[in-house]
Amino acid sequence: MKRSVIIDCDPGVDDCIALMAALGSPDELDLMAVCVVAGNVSVETCFRNARSVLALAGREDVPVHAGCARPLKVEPEFADHIHGESGLGKAVLPDSLAPPSGLHAVDYLCETLGAAAPGSITMVITGPMTNFATALQCDPAIAEAVDELVIMGGADIEGGNITPHAEFNIYADPDAAQIVLGCGRPITLIGLDATLQFRCTPARMARMQASKHRAPAAATAMIGHVNDVYGKIYGAEGAAMHDPCTIGYLLAPDLFTARRTSVSVDCSAGERRGHTAIGGVRTGSTDAINWIRGLHAEPLFDLLLGRMERL
Ligand code: RIB
Ligand code: CA
Repeated sequence: MKRSVIIDCDPGVDDCIALMAALGSPDELDLMAVCVVAGNVSVETCFRNARSVLALAGREDVPVHAGCARPLKVEPEFADHIHGESGLGKAVLPDSLAPPSGLHAVDYLCETLGAAAPGSITMVITGPMTNFATALQCDPAIAEAVDELVIMGGADIEGGNITPHAEFNIYADPDAAQIVLGCGRPITLIGLDATLQFRCTPARMARMQASKHRAPAAATAMIGHVNDVYGKIYGAEGAAMHDPCTIGYLLAPDLFTARRTSVSVDCSAGERRGHTAIGGVRTGSTDAINWIRGLHAEPLFDLLLGRMERL
């Protein structure tokens, strides 16, 4: 059944690839809107990048709403050392000429979810959870409209990436993550334990480069930059494609392995800020979530590349 989807993101290279895969899947996903939040880069840059991706895809009918410029409490931390100052790596995308929406993302979420039927909208979050957390604080009842939250964030065995103990999306706004992960709606959380299994290896890079389609071409320029960075920082054979896993999960959940467990977020200011305790029994534990701990990378790449090639 076709899902109505709102994507809340911080584009960012892998967010852009997730957006392109979603836009290439109109039979399964009705993308209602894109909300952007400060994370990888500033909210202004995220706003520009999301609009540019929609222009590239010929989908400027999808509104982009700029959201929170900073986390609920902690000081902003960005990831431009990974995504580049533009947030697009080495890709250069033309600005969208579509009239920008003046509606703030939090207002959009409150109005849209507040008016929607119960369980009628899927929220995909691939950045810090500040927008949705703020909307929940304004009107907790909006959660009823959400049938499922599919979130990229957290880590268990993998520990972390922005620090040894925390994954970036949670670390960037741990207080927002705690609010959203405790909202009581069904949550599928796709953390580093799964997403680090989904890398843009040289073979996959070559396949994207060989594609004659505009979206894979843009993705190649984006992720080529991150591959270089990963090579320097992580010595990894290819950047992890974190955020596209959320779209892959919506399209083909059988490609993922999951377990029901609890999650709690460390909101302290110490070295474990943003740590996600998966399965631990700690104060602040939320209701059970669907924790994704593995995936089948090759069929997932085939699927997502194929969707991008439809644009
Ligand atoms: O830790 C990976 C996550 O942080 C991804 O969403 C990436 O885009 C960054 O936001
Ligand atoms: Ca992201």
